[in-house]
Amino acid sequence: MAEGAAAKISDVTYSKINVTTPLQRRETPVFGKGDLVIFGVPVYIGRVPNLLRDYFASIKGNGAIGVPVAVYGNRAYDDALIELRDIMHSNGFRCIAAGAFIGEHSFSYTLGGGRPDAADLQIARNFGSEIGTAIMQGEDLPELVEVPGNPYPYKFYNAKSSSNSSIDIRKVKPETDPEKCTSCGLCAMLCPMGAIDPTNCALVPGICIKCGACIKMCRPKAKYFSDPTYLEHKEILEKNFTEPRKEPELFR
Ligand SMILES: Cc1cc2nc3c(=O)[nH]c(=O)nc-3n(C[C@H](O)[C@H](O)[C@H](O)COP(=O)(O)O)c2cc1C
Ligand code: SF4
Ligand code: SF4
Repeated sequence: MAEGAAAKISDVTYSKINVTTPLQRRETPVFGKGDLVIFGVPVYIGRVPNLLRDYFASIKGNGAIGVPVAVYGNRAYDDALIELRDIMHSNGFRCIAAGAFIGEHSFSYTLGGGRPDAADLQIARNFGSEIGTAIMQGEDLPELVEVPGNPYPYKFYNAKSSSNSSIDIRKVKPETDPEKCTSCGLCAMLCPMGAIDPTNCALVPGICIKCGACIKMCRPKAKYFSDPTYLEHKEILEKNFTEPRKEPELFR
């Protein structure tokens, strides 16, 4: 989206700021008038990820144009997009447009598998171009774009097990197969919560948000979840939400 927008606005370049890990979040970007800022955030349980909300809420817009984007795993984005929009708006961003895109679900390789794909990225690029053109042509842009979702108080998705009880996987952590682990340290470096002990990657003393990065990025496939509630939840999600394929939604 940023690439598409920058191509339409004279004399600007775009940059990406990755705020995935605690080290990357040590610095908080500050924006101002004249900036166009696209915020991309994954959807967790139908919301902006709980443990990262305070960080997102600390990023000041100071009159910058903002575009909230929620990325979800082909189930639903529920209240995450409206929540992200409101966080940005209350921090001084003028939210003129918004989007919901699909990414491979953190729990799965098949649910939203391979998303965003080339078609999604083209839609994102085109939407960015549209926004860039609208800004350049001085179109009458909204102060606060309308997006789907319940206004505050936002609701969490209430996931159910096959016996219809609520699923709670908050305490679940990944395990490590000592036969496969090469102690490369990659998982500890990538963990967005800094939860994995870098001196012994089999230990996960910190809070795990089940993002799946340590599992999907481990080359020898040494990391895995074995918790039965987690595995059942993943199976239910794959069974119920792999089809139909959801498409990106654009708002402006
Ligand atoms: C704890 C957790 C909860 C999630 N909840 C949802 C959800 O409510 N709806 C959905 O469609 N995807 C959900 N997802 C999937 C992510 O939104 C999706 O995989 C997203 O692409 C992750 O982005 P990332 O790879 O940048 O972490 C969830 C993932 C995790 C880890
Ligand atoms: S990424 Fe995999 S192989 Fe490397 S330390 Fe972590 S678990 Fe071990
Ligand atoms: S799934 Fe792995 S990388 Fe993600 S938060 Fe948990 S321990 Fe960290």
